Amino acid sequence: MKNLKIINHPLVEHYLSIMRDKNTGQTEFKNSLDKVSYFLAAEAYSSAGLENKAVNTPFKKINGKKIKDKIIILPILRAGLGLTQGFIDLYPEAITSHIGIYRDEESLKPVKYYFRFPKFKDKSDLNVIILDPMIATGGSVIFTIEYLLNMGIRKIRVASLLCAPEGIDAINNRFNKSEKRFIEIITCALDERLNEKGYIVPGLGDAGDRMFGT
Ligand code: PRP
Ligand code: URA
Repeated sequence: MKNLKIINHPLVEHYLSIMRDKNTGQTEFKNSLDKVSYFLAAEAYSSAGLENKAVNTPFKKINGKKIKDKIIILPILRAGLGLTQGFIDLYPEAITSHIGIYRDEESLKPVKYYFRFPKFKDKSDLNVIILDPMIATGGSVIFTIEYLLNMGIRKIRVASLLCAPEGIDAINNRFNKSEKRFIEIITCALDERLNEKGYIVPGLGDAGDRMFGT
């Protein structure tokens, strides 16, 4: 997929390896996730539109910049909550919205149970960043992207830790060329495959359980 950006950074690889280790406990897992969330946030925010803003430096007046887009971060409950720290810390003006989706354990199909999003008349400068650490079958992310496209949102980023090739193919096949112009997936690694239970291999197990200790 053209719009797939894999972050290549030694610190991301370092913390991702800590998270992949089955012996890493909840605290260290969450600390590592918090660190990686800053790299994802920096990359996801790189698409933000700017406008001019006059700035008086101690020496002269210059044309500075300020963020023009209305940025909305949209964690998919519950594991998406684990990625919020870097996003909020780097740009506290971002609005945090929530969508609740879980995968039915038998069918692996996404089930929506919650959605809270502010109302905007003008959606032209909305920039929505979906947070979901794992793109496995792709069902949860596809469902969320469809929802946003139907609402008229035209700038959609997905920030994830790990993707399975099956999930990326599913996203690629679900959306047509003109829809894909509005979508970008940012991830830290593209793993090997999904296993028969829909887990990413090698992966890190159940992201929600590991970060929340359930
Ligand atoms: C996990 C994960 C993703 C989803 C990915 O959520 O957090 O949202 O699975 O799988 P998919 O690409 O096949 O849709 P889960 O259903 O385990 O819920 P949780 O976040 O509440 O743990
Ligand atoms: N959700 C997870 O938390 N882990 C996986 O490997 C797949 C989906």
